[in-house]
Amino acid sequence: MAYAISWIHVCACKRVRRAYHDRVSGTGAETATTTLARLISGAQVARMISVAAELGIADLLADGPRTSDDLAAVTETHPPSLFRLLRALASLGIFAAERDGRFGLTPLADLLRTGVTGSMRGLALFQNDAWYWQVYRELPYSVRTGQPATEYLWGDGLFGYFASHPEAAELFDSGMASRHAETNAALANAYDFSGIDTLVDVGGGNGSLLATILASHPNMNGILFDLPRVAEGATGRLAQAGFAQRCQIVGGDFFDSVPAGGDAYIVSNVLHDWQDQPAAGFTLARIAPLPSRTGAGVLEGQPATT
Ligand SMILES: C[S@@+](CC[C@H](N)C(=O)[O-])C[C@H]1O[C@@H](n2cnc3c(N)ncnc32)[C@H](O)[C@@H]1O
Repeated sequence: MAYAISWIHVCACKRVRRAYHDRVSGTGAETATTTLARLISGAQVARMISVAAELGIADLLADGPRTSDDLAAVTETHPPSLFRLLRALASLGIFAAERDGRFGLTPLADLLRTGVTGSMRGLALFQNDAWYWQVYRELPYSVRTGQPATEYLWGDGLFGYFASHPEAAELFDSGMASRHAETNAALANAYDFSGIDTLVDVGGGNGSLLATILASHPNMNGILFDLPRVAEGATGRLAQAGFAQRCQIVGGDFFDSVPAGGDAYIVSNVLHDWQDQPAAGFTLARIAPLPSRTGAGVLEGQPATT
């Protein structure tokens, strides 16, 4: 049985690697079978990336390539298994397998380092946290009933779960910041914010979008609004970024009320967390009636799966 499972696993990994190689090298047009096989096997790739992120492999390679035995000693892992993991990831373009047997960084691996600009380590960790797999395991429930799996699992939904699981919440918040760093910068540059003295970011998370916009608009002030737990966490981050004087941080529930006094309101990557009715409820009932000068902007960048 164990042999069969590991054989299936090896075959699946080979299929993923072959399909990826074909795609990145442009050497073979991907057939429908290989495309579908690659997509079906996506969970394996996601899991491998997250294990490397958990072990902090990319950080350990920041000063140059190292052998997998060396990395296994530092991470207290099984050397041959770590070697297989790194080799599989190298075949996907994440990590470079050197001729001398060492592994190094690639542009993709570089984004798995902690604290680098655009780091996606937080995303790799939160999208592979135990709760995330639990939710997707219950996807059939949502498809059958039209109800959120998060409520089926925990009664008061994802944000209720976070209230009693601060470590998962912290990973989620930092994952959100890494997920949207690139679009935040693009938005700050692309949109004409002139005429906005005070911008309110509703469900603004740890403040990374607001900080990016304030940085390029020195005369603008901001109000970050989120659940009290999240707002509290954003206070230090915004102060550290030098916005303590220009940014007010307000904790609350947008289903009850949203801070008044903004010239414009931004709602970024929030609506996809809710079913249509509550999402429309808080935007239409709480934000739309506020006397803002320039209105409300909705920014949603999530793939259609969420
Ligand atoms: C998917 S995150 C998006 C964060 C951020 N706007 C971004 O683009 O990265 C959704 C945010 O909505 C916040 N949120 C959820 N329910 C809320 C509520 N009832 N009132 C205020 N904020 C809420 C969460 O805490 C979280 O920060």
